[in-house]
Amino acid sequence: MASFAQCYGPWAVILGASDGTGAAFARAIAAAGIHCILVARREQPLADLAAELTREHSVECITAPVDLADADASVQVIAAASDREVGLLVTNAGADPHGALFLEQTSAAWESLLAINITNTLRCCHHFGGLMRARRRGGLLLVGSGACRGGAARLATYSGAKAFVRCFAESLWQEMKDDNVHVLHLELTTTDTPSFRKLLAEKGRKPLRGMTSPEDVARVGLARLARGPNYFWGQKLGLRASLRRTRVRLVTHLSGKFILEPAQADGQRL
Ligand SMILES: NC(=O)c1ccc[n+]([C@@H]2O[C@H](COP(=O)([O-])OP(=O)(O)OC[C@H]3O[C@@H](n4cnc5c(N)ncnc54)[C@H](OP(=O)(O)O)[C@@H]3O)[C@@H](O)[C@H]2O)c1
Repeated sequence: MASFAQCYGPWAVILGASDGTGAAFARAIAAAGIHCILVARREQPLADLAAELTREHSVECITAPVDLADADASVQVIAAASDREVGLLVTNAGADPHGALFLEQTSAAWESLLAINITNTLRCCHHFGGLMRARRRGGLLLVGSGACRGGAARLATYSGAKAFVRCFAESLWQEMKDDNVHVLHLELTTTDTPSFRKLLAEKGRKPLRGMTSPEDVARVGLARLARGPNYFWGQKLGLRASLRRTRVRLVTHLSGKFILEPAQADGQRL
């Protein structure tokens, strides 16, 4: 069996790598012998993490201080990667820092959330996924949230953005699986990250009991990467994820009856 690094190396891009689940992904990926391109806004935590990974795992690291809500964020990420062979992209950043009613925040604040979760995710998957498909090897791991399942007060933009992430990942999984590019939507529930702790503190709340650890998220997420399109954290996992997989295949098949040319549709397998 090919090793993790043979499947997803020699370089990985981790978006939102400076703390929490992103840093945990970077540690696990470096431990597998894959060089890391670490992206987030704060330079110092990225530099500290890069030094740690190089010291502990003898991998190379590039740090890229980028605001993923910027209009040219994907251009900056792609420039940081340069011509390095990226076999793994983890889109981790994207939590809602507001926890507010829609009209309590500016439209610009919500648009930043869309830019991180939608525009930048789409552009990075297009660039790195295209190169992976050409090499017939690689992985796209998109971090999602249980909020993707439906709207609720104080979740208007976040749930819509995460619904995009889920549907987008499921579609890419189906489109790229024959090219040996693995795609996983990793749907998280409450997780013990600095961002979530900060939000809780701002709302006058103590840390919740039973939050998932970032290390568990990274370990399970990477282990499930080849078994997409979904991993639903904290739910009756196997059954629901496999039903969703069946749905993706079925809708692909049925929509082929009007999206594909008749000759192509006839040759489609379920
Ligand atoms: N924590 C939870 O309970 C929970 C639950 C469900 C789903 N999730 C999902 O898990 C992922 C990680 O969540 P999280 O709680 O760790 O919070 P997060 O804010 O999404 O992620 C934190 C990481 O992203 C970076 N980041 C945040 N905004 C950025 C921006 N505009 N540009 C560049 N980097 C940015 C942060 O570094 P800098 O501050 O240095 O930029 C940090 O490295 C998200 O996709 C979230 O939706 C989390």
